[in-house]
This record gives sequence, C-alpha cells and structure tokens, in this order.
Amino acid sequence: MPDLSVRIGSLTLKNPVLVASGTFGFGADYARLYDPSRLGGVVTKAITLEPRRGNPPPRLWETPCGLLNSIGLENPGVEAFLREELPRMRALGTAVVVNVWGETPEEYAELAQRLSVPGVDAIELNLSCPNVPGKGLIGSSPAGTARVVRLCRRATGLDLWAKLPPEGDVLAAARAAEGEGATAISAANTFRGLAIDIRTGRPVFANVTGGLSGPAIKPLALRLVYELSRAVRIPVIGIGGIAGWEDALEFIMAGAHAVQVGTGNFIDPLCAPKLVRGLEKFLAERGMESWEEVRGCAHRGGIPGAA
Ligand SMILES: Cc1cc2nc3c(=O)[nH]c(=O)nc-3n(C[C@H](O)[C@H](O)[C@H](O)COP(=O)(O)O)c2cc1C
Repeated sequence: MPDLSVRIGSLTLKNPVLVASGTFGFGADYARLYDPSRLGGVVTKAITLEPRRGNPPPRLWETPCGLLNSIGLENPGVEAFLREELPRMRALGTAVVVNVWGETPEEYAELAQRLSVPGVDAIELNLSCPNVPGKGLIGSSPAGTARVVRLCRRATGLDLWAKLPPEGDVLAAARAAEGEGATAISAANTFRGLAIDIRTGRPVFANVTGGLSGPAIKPLALRLVYELSRAVRIPVIGIGGIAGWEDALEFIMAGAHAVQVGTGNFIDPLCAPKLVRGLEKFLAERGMESWEEVRGCAHRGGIPGAA
C-alpha cells in the first residue's frame, strides 16, 4: 500500500485530504454518514471571540457550477467551542484544525492563545472573510497579514496556517506570512461575487457581495496554488472547487502538500472519503510509494516517464 501521509509543519496527516472551513460544521452531521477518521483532517467553521449570529437570509445562492455564500461567520464563540464542540471533535480520530477570525490582529492572537489546548492540532487564520460588512480582507495586504501572523506566533506554539483571499497581492502576503512564522499557506478562500435579483433589481445578499466557491473557481485556485508553491518554501494547502480525486491530484501536481474539500461536501457528502480512496488507487496503480514523484511535477515537466 502506498504511504499517503503528508507532513505539514509539525503535523503528520494520514493523508492529504481535509475538509474546508464552513462546509463541515464541527463534524457531527457527517460522522453519521462516514467515519471522519478516514480524512487527513477537519477544519472547523471560523471561531470568533464572541458568538456571532451571522448575516440575515438569504445566505446561499447557487450559480452555474458555483455557490455564492454570505454566511457572515455564524459561530458559537470560542468559549462554547472549547466547552461543547472540541471534546466531540477530539473523538473524530483525525487532525483538528481550528479556523479563527478576528476583528483586529490582537483578537486573532487572543484566539490563538485560548485555543492552545490539547485536541487542537493547528490554527488556520482566516485572513479573508469576504462576508462581514466593512471588514474582511486583511490577508490581501502583506503588512496586515504579517501583523496577524507575528502576534499569533508570539501567542501560541501551535502550527499556524495562513488562509489567504484569492485576490490582492497574494504572493507577497504569502511570503509575509512565511517570514513571520506561518507553517503553511491555505489557498484560498472564496472569490468576491455578486448576484442581483432581477425582479427587484437589488443584490440578493443584504451585504451586497458574497463569496464564490465550487467547481467554477477551480482553475483560478489551481493557478494560484501553482504560483504560491514556487513563491514560498512552507507547504501550500490547495482549496477551491475540488469535487473529485482528479481535482485533488491536479492541485498536488501543481505543488500542494494537501487539499481541502469545501463545496464538494455539499455536492456529495461522501466526496472527501471518495477522494482519499481515489488518490490511494492512483498511487497504488502506478506503483508509487509516496507523494514525492507527483507533488509539484507540473513544474518539472510532468510525471517521470509519462508519455
Ligand atoms: C457556506 C460556506 C461557509 C464558509 N465559511 C468559511 C469560514 O468560516 N472560514 C473560512 O476560512 N472559510 C470559509 N469558507 C470558505 C471555504 O472554506 C473554502 O475556502 C472556499 O469555499 C473554496 O473552496 P471550495 O470551492 O472547495 O468550496 C466557507 C465556504 C462556504 C461555501
């Protein structure tokens, strides 16, 4: 059997497939459908210092091959997460990555410090939520990114994954995160999009724009990951439109160490475990023992010996 494991900073994941923030809750619903221990890891919904109710409905809007969302960071807050959700998540049998969002760099650091407890394997800094009025894209600025990562680095010994928006100076922001001690770059969050209800002539979302995800964004995210994997030395985790194992493989060939499945979980709740199986079969059928030959091969002229 091939060794599917990947190393991200100080963590060894059993395979490179995680589920993305905001699309898997805290795992309980999906645990009724399959055993989450088959995954490389689970990333939580964004956690904030205080509970948040999120944006008014509608919050989801389907587009051809994509999904616009304007959830607005609904979550129970860090205290309730630690008390009620984390103990259940520890029983999932896979790595637990907590996604956090702060209004200021200091809030991110406080969250990182409070979440530095047994059972949390890494912290993903959501530097890019596009769905909060007047707030959001701190990660599109290298200086903003640097400040958040610097303060969090001082606040916790846990691995820090900097999750960037796909817009702005992403390569410079990624280098800034690396320079301040981030252990991985998660790329990327949703693209800002818009839908207008033609009966009323008004944007469908109260917050006007929403974040576009799903297969529609895959080529855009893939291009970004290809460039990022050259721009930084720390691992890049590919996110965007992954709905099948072939998509995941493209991201790994572009240079990603791991991938996250987001909207793919809504298309098929079994998407993530199917992806693990597909990747395993791919390596086994080609007699490859690990990811080394495949990861980043698009930068090196492809799979050695492939016609
Ligand atoms: C309904 C929904 C909620 C999301 N909530 C979060 C969140 O809380 N924090 C975050 O960093 N990303 C959040 N995202 C972004 C996803 O984690 C992911 O980066 C994005 O959807 C692109 O991947 P995909 O095309 O596979 O969905 C959310 C996405 C969706 C669709």
